[in-house]
Amino acid sequence: MTDQASRDRIIEARAALAEAMALHEQGDLEAAEAGYRQVLARGYRTTEVLPLLAGLLGHLSRAEDALAAWDALLAIEPDHAVALHEKGLTLHWLGRTPEAIAALQSACAIDPDNPIAIGNFAVVLADAGRSLEAIRHFRRALALQPDNLHLRHQVRRLGSRSVPFWHIPMMNDAPRNDAFEAAIKAAVGLAGPQALVLDIGAGSGLLSLMAARAGAQKVVACEMEPMIAEMAQQIVAQNGYADRIIVHAKPSTELAIGAELDAPAEVLISEILSSDLLTEKVLDTFEDAHRRLLAANAVVIPRAASAMGCLVTSENLADYTFVGQVSGFDLSAFTAFAPQRLPIHGTMTGWKRLSDDVELVRLDLQQKKHDAVLSRLRIPVTASGPAIGIVQWMHIDLWEGVSFDNHPDHYADGGWLQVLHSFPEVIDVAAGETLDIAVGHDRITLILLPLAEDHG
Ligand SMILES: C[S@@+](CC[C@H](N)C(=O)[O-])C[C@H]1O[C@@H](n2cnc3c(N)ncnc32)[C@H](O)[C@@H]1O
Repeated sequence: MTDQASRDRIIEARAALAEAMALHEQGDLEAAEAGYRQVLARGYRTTEVLPLLAGLLGHLSRAEDALAAWDALLAIEPDHAVALHEKGLTLHWLGRTPEAIAALQSACAIDPDNPIAIGNFAVVLADAGRSLEAIRHFRRALALQPDNLHLRHQVRRLGSRSVPFWHIPMMNDAPRNDAFEAAIKAAVGLAGPQALVLDIGAGSGLLSLMAARAGAQKVVACEMEPMIAEMAQQIVAQNGYADRIIVHAKPSTELAIGAELDAPAEVLISEILSSDLLTEKVLDTFEDAHRRLLAANAVVIPRAASAMGCLVTSENLADYTFVGQVSGFDLSAFTAFAPQRLPIHGTMTGWKRLSDDVELVRLDLQQKKHDAVLSRLRIPVTASGPAIGIVQWMHIDLWEGVSFDNHPDHYADGGWLQVLHSFPEVIDVAAGETLDIAVGHDRITLILLPLAEDHG
């Protein structure tokens, strides 16, 4: 080809590109796409045209075609940070998360101080459930762009998403904290400062800090939520106890003697009791600790916990657990899906007792093995009314003379809520009768079921 012919081809290609870009700007995307493809066919400014084409295709939600354009660019320039970034976002949009993470990771490696790429990488990590890595990347992006409100929001959102809503009121629950501290002081006093203390479920590190303040020289803590574990270690250091407390970001079932623990622990402190005692898997966890991590005569705090309760009536709570006629239709069959357990708070506290307090289930946490249990409990009815279920709370036995409970008469705003265990249907009871219920647990949930046919 003569120089003139080649110059002419360039002029034509330049004009075709200008036309395609004008069409793109005017919003005629189909014509613009055709134009870009023509320019590409001429081999003119390929690495500049491909991003324009890919962007246009992305705008048209043609993700697969956009991906092909980004890949074509990456085949020419494998380290093209924008292409890797956009490819990652497109893959994410397509739900191809591992590939999206790989592309965004490469984009960030090439352009390490780009807060947008880091922020987008964090979004994909968060969506993939990799919260700790995500928050670290959001924090880094925020350090690069401190005024970015989106990043600030994401850092808060991820932090709070990893922590259940009850965690902070639980930490502010002074009677709970004081009871635990009294028991921990007594246990460390008895076992001596050299006794190895194991804290399962460190949370903020509070109980470990109490043990160290009581004199324990070595506290091994574990916390299975990595973001919380990292925070606990930070708080321990801020309070000056990093030389005595180590927090492992692991579930207790992944601790081992000879690894995280030098020897079997002589004191176990662990507050993993859910409002209904069992759903944080306290039995599995304590059994595993007894079997593998504790000395035979280890002190265990808490040493026991009981589910307490009373029979209740409540129009307010009935609306949360039963449905009947609605707008003239019979929707009562839907009651089959009513919550079996309903944590109660706020306006849900309007209920009246129909029996005295009874102990429903007691867990001896010093026991090495627990089986599921079910037995019959006869509840004397003290007031007449439609019984809708049992309101349940906890009594925790921490040490000789040290206990804690969230009895509804005096406890409303702590970390533990009372729980309504609703009956499958309303049972009309009268003062002086008894109501028989089946009580027990299947190791992870309380079982409370009326034996309605026997009441009377
Ligand atoms: C109720 S909070 C108590 C936190 C802290 N110990 C306190 O008393 O303030 C329980 C914590 O234990 C953690 N956890 C529960 N079971 C665990 C286990 N088996 N191993 C490690 N962490 C666990 C949860 O993620 C949660 O952060």
